[in-house]
Amino acid sequence: MQIEKVGVVGCGLMGHGIAQVAAQGGFSVIAFEVAQEPLDKGLARIEKSLARFASKAVEKGKQTEAEAAEWVSAARGRITPSTDENDLADCDLVIEAIVEDLDVKKELFARLGAAAKESTIFASNTSSFPIAEMAQASGRPTRFVGLHFFNPVQLMRLVEVVRTDATDDDVFAAARAFGEACGKSPVSCQDTPGFVVNRLLVPFMVQAIQMLDRGHASAEDIDAAMQLGCGHPMGPITLTDYVGLDTTLSILRGWTTRYPDEHAFAIPASLESKVAEGKLGRKTGEGYYKWDGDKKS
Ligand code: 3HC
Repeated sequence: MQIEKVGVVGCGLMGHGIAQVAAQGGFSVIAFEVAQEPLDKGLARIEKSLARFASKAVEKGKQTEAEAAEWVSAARGRITPSTDENDLADCDLVIEAIVEDLDVKKELFARLGAAAKESTIFASNTSSFPIAEMAQASGRPTRFVGLHFFNPVQLMRLVEVVRTDATDDDVFAAARAFGEACGKSPVSCQDTPGFVVNRLLVPFMVQAIQMLDRGHASAEDIDAAMQLGCGHPMGPITLTDYVGLDTTLSILRGWTTRYPDEHAFAIPASLESKVAEGKLGRKTGEGYYKWDGDKKS
């Protein structure tokens, strides 16, 4: 099953990274957003990231300046920005990376299922919603997978490839091959809450926030403990700011609704109050820490 043209729906935190790694992997990419402003913002992030990789390659002597410039222009040239959903209809693979709202995702897939060519494979980058529900809404459950990338997509080497009971074997194999071509190591997952990573990671973040809320340790000490004691690249409180408090809360809300008896999914009080105050983490300049761009201030 040949994938050549890939549509990425959403050009935000995850979508811009997915569009970029697909272009780096040699695919022709439609980067779709509902409006010009978020699209321009996503493309600017892609250009900044490509430039960072290029200058690093030159610094390390892996490429000359001319080769690096050519690499950037080839990758950027494979991305066609669009605000017209019809442009997705002839893609071989369409990956959804929009807001974590199951109803909105289902509506999108119902529209795409009606409009896209018969052979198109659909994928969702959802962190936590059941893939099978979106697959059903698309009207083509055999051609549906989860492709769950990690933030920052350009740097994190994993992609979770999620299959439902209905996913065709060749569709699943094509999705894994796509992930590999994007430079990622795929792991195969069943359609269970949080798949592998978030089922382990989110309860860990919850435990860290609850420890902070109880006043048993400071944010700085919790983070230092896990970085220095366990070799994590970021401590769990910083990671929550990095992922986004709203995203973390929405994952937990979805799970507590579906699995009310699972204590590991309990929502910490401070997470709810900070989201209500608009303190969503790094992206808004404040979460559990204050942020100045990429740096904690
Ligand atoms: N594009 C290109 N290059 C980039 C980049 C980008 N977007 N972001 C950073 N870089 C480069 C930097 O320029 C830097 O280059 P240098 O080595 O030449 O200076 C290099 O990458 C490393 O970046 P930093 O120095 O800024 O920072 P770190 O070395 O600390 O690495 C990190 C950053 C990779 C984010 C690391 O801290 C990390 O692995 N953190 C954990 C992230 C994580 O757990 N992500 C998963 C979140 S969960 C998730 O996504 C699932 C969701 O569903 C909730």
